[in-house]
Amino acid sequence: MARRLRERRLVVASHNPGKVAEIKDLLAPYGIETLSAAALDLPEPEETADTFTGNALLKARAGATGADMVALADDSGLQVSALGGEPGIRSARWAGPDRDFDLAMARVEKELSEKGAAGAKSRAACFVAALALCWPDGHTESFEGRVYGRLVWPPRGGHGFGYDPMFRPDGYDITFGEMDPAEKHRISHRAVAFGKLLSACLDGK
Ligand code: IMP
Repeated sequence: MARRLRERRLVVASHNPGKVAEIKDLLAPYGIETLSAAALDLPEPEETADTFTGNALLKARAGATGADMVALADDSGLQVSALGGEPGIRSARWAGPDRDFDLAMARVEKELSEKGAAGAKSRAACFVAALALCWPDGHTESFEGRVYGRLVWPPRGGHGFGYDPMFRPDGYDITFGEMDPAEKHRISHRAVAFGKLLSACLDGK
């Protein structure tokens, strides 16, 4: 059984303002105040684990130790079946130092072609999000969410970020890039992971 989150404040162990804002909104209805790692001047640990959950735990542990309060961290990315799960934990790195996701999406498409996997049957992919909670006593809980779909080419739509314009979730004709952001947030990998965290650690509080 997961440990319940009874604290009223936690640190979001991320230096990404978008993520901090999203998590703040998700926890506000539970009366939980969120502080950001940047506001507390916490260092960013290197993401040296080889799984999403491993990296989320690493960031949550660093946050809990640095702030001496409960820390919540996330890690996410795109896994392409025909590429053996790449770019996976390297999803941000494929966009290069300028975080150019047109470049990253073009690389995915190029590698699919080189593998002879650019045809409709080989274009399965999923987005994965891992969330990790760490308490100051070192106890951790982690949750993973996935959303499955297919990659399209060329990319479509101006909403979202990262690989959204080339990802069409199963059951939809449109990509995440074309989808209303509220709808994406309802069905996304992060929503699934959050749902698990809320029901394990918060619901009924
Ligand atoms: P990190 O979780 O900050 O390490 O970054 C993960 C990377 O995965 C992001 O920079 C995006 O490229 C990609 N990614 C994660 N979630 C999404 C999503 O919902 N849409 C598009 N790309 C995503």
